[in-house]
Amino acid sequence: MQAPASSSLSPFPVARRVSGFTYAIRNIVAEAKKVEAAGRAVKYLNIGVPIPFGFKTPPHLIDAVDRAMRDGHNGYTPSPGIAPAREAVAKDFTDRGMPVSADRVLLTSGTSEGIELAIGALVDTDDEVLVPVPTYPLYTAVLAKIGAKTVYYRTDPDRGWQPDLDHLRSLITPRTRVLVLIDPNNPTGAVYPRETRLALLEIADQHNLVILSDEVYGDLAYTGSLPPLASLNPDAAVIAFSSMSKAYVAPGWRAGWMAVGRTPRLDDALAAIKKLADGRLCSPGPMQYAITAALTGDRSYQQQFRTELELRAKLTASRMNAIPGMRCVMPQGAFYAMPQLKLPAGKTDEDFVLGLLRETGVLVVYGSGFGADPADGTFRIVYLAPPHELSAIYDDIATFTARFLATA
Ligand SMILES: Cc1ncc(COP(=O)(O)O)c(C=O)c1O
Repeated sequence: MQAPASSSLSPFPVARRVSGFTYAIRNIVAEAKKVEAAGRAVKYLNIGVPIPFGFKTPPHLIDAVDRAMRDGHNGYTPSPGIAPAREAVAKDFTDRGMPVSADRVLLTSGTSEGIELAIGALVDTDDEVLVPVPTYPLYTAVLAKIGAKTVYYRTDPDRGWQPDLDHLRSLITPRTRVLVLIDPNNPTGAVYPRETRLALLEIADQHNLVILSDEVYGDLAYTGSLPPLASLNPDAAVIAFSSMSKAYVAPGWRAGWMAVGRTPRLDDALAAIKKLADGRLCSPGPMQYAITAALTGDRSYQQQFRTELELRAKLTASRMNAIPGMRCVMPQGAFYAMPQLKLPAGKTDEDFVLGLLRETGVLVVYGSGFGADPADGTFRIVYLAPPHELSAIYDDIATFTARFLATA
């Protein structure tokens, strides 16, 4: 056989849709690896995962998975998930004020898969989806992949990163299908008050929009667990998402769930979501057994977790606000803060973040990775590290910021 002509060795082209799919939280790690290769240790404050910072998966959840595997539950499960866990999720939502039956619950590979299934079921190519800016970037990435349009509605740092409702209303067109809410919010740490939640429900109702309610941090609001959005109106067109990744400290298990609101107007959406879910067979089986344990067993560790997080939130906001040129809204939940630096003309958030990484080894994510304007000077800190480590990191950020502003 003849050797192939060199032209046939050129790289295979990849699909165009990939170019619109960006996820800065992980993409920026390539830069961090270069810094490490050059001999500088990197402090990773880019990914919201509690485990490397010493937070532990509760033992009764590990026991449940262990038991499930040893009992032979290692096959595929029904595609929407095992019945006892779906029932536990339905009961949990119902107890918290969103009445839903188990047949409207699906178990998913994390919140992420639920989001992708719901968008896949509801949004056509060229349809529009309202997404908060700054946003958790999975939404825009999935929309780019299916050729739908992200329409950003502003959230306002001058009002604690609350949504700008007038701006949101002004963006609605006949092609708008879905309104995405993330509450408590990643990347800003905002928690929306009841009036805002009611107003968002009303806007969605007036304009026939389905709300995708990302409640993955719902148990990590510092005032205590938040009620699900749909508890304010159980008949609203809301699909709620959560998982064991954050408040149950098991992100690698990919154990999540979604609940489709009880309104019959969502029956077709539910059927479409189930149809799409059939194609991926099931979410990880043994981990589904931990969902029942998580939702029916001891949850007192969450109180301790919230206390630890609030301590770090206060430290972060006060240290960032003490840096000349920087301001930071105090987060009300989750483990993210979004400080904002008044940038010198011509500089971008990426200039700041990459400079910080290269000079100090501190890795945060630039706000434009969450859809923000690069000139806004925002960046996201994950503040899960122990306070004394955070404090040393914040010294580095303060020193670097002064240098960055002085030499710009
Ligand atoms: C707002 C938000 N939604 C969804 C996810 C994905 O979580 P999961 O691990 O449940 O897929 C994350 C992860 O950081 C998140 O911050």
